[in-house]
Amino acid sequence: MGIFRKKRTDEKVDLTALPEHIAIILDGNGRWAKRRGLPRTAGHAVGSENFRKIATYCNDIGVKYLTVYAFSTENWKRPDEEVSTIMSLLEKYIIEAIEEVTKKNLRLRFWGSREGLSEKILKLMSDAEKKSDEMTGMQVNVCLNYGARDEIKNALRGIVKDVEAGKLSCEEISEKTISSKLYSADTPDPDLLIRPGGETRLSNFLLWQAAYSELYFSDKFWPEFDERELDRAIIEFQKRNRRFGGV
Ligand code: FPP
Repeated sequence: MGIFRKKRTDEKVDLTALPEHIAIILDGNGRWAKRRGLPRTAGHAVGSENFRKIATYCNDIGVKYLTVYAFSTENWKRPDEEVSTIMSLLEKYIIEAIEEVTKKNLRLRFWGSREGLSEKILKLMSDAEKKSDEMTGMQVNVCLNYGARDEIKNALRGIVKDVEAGKLSCEEISEKTISSKLYSADTPDPDLLIRPGGETRLSNFLLWQAAYSELYFSDKFWPEFDERELDRAIIEFQKRNRRFGGV
């Protein structure tokens, strides 16, 4: 049985005990496409549609924060054609999101380095953040050009600058100081972190924030990870006993 346990299908999500913050590593697009004799880019297109579907579902059931690992600082190593397909899909997603944020009451945030991104996508990101700023519904954090070590390194740089400027003493640096310098400064830590695609590692995703997250791994590829699979992950989460280091 191992880590990929099959769940009973008759169980229901308890909507009164939802994870407030769900984080997802999109994985398995390429393999999903390859199994069907399609180019990897086709897997990303279906994966992108699937994210829309799952985000809508999360919003409908009442999840407050949804964070998605869409493009890592390491993903630039992929072939140019694949990188540009992913960027186009992200642009398309943001353009549509800008139209939808008011209707769906969504807040959109982008976590990651702005370096290396095109002017076009930077402008879209900024428009989407501005337009959704006043919204009070689910917050979607898209991790784009994101790496957790890079995030922590930048946080450290910010803290050292504050110490050098005399705004902070070394002794005053606390865990809260570090959290306040991360992209996630105003967001609670993820309660549930889901990785589809069969791999069981974090791959430089939310290393600080996931300290006490419940991890859920699925062998389904992301394009086939549907609402029922998400229910399974939430049901499993609801059975876990979170002690945060206590007894
Ligand atoms: C991982 O699958 C997926 C990616 C690196 C890219 C995901 C990005 C998108 C689908 C673009 C749109 C995103 C949003 C949020 C709208 P993989 O290629 O590593 O799959 P593999 O492990 O099977 O090769």
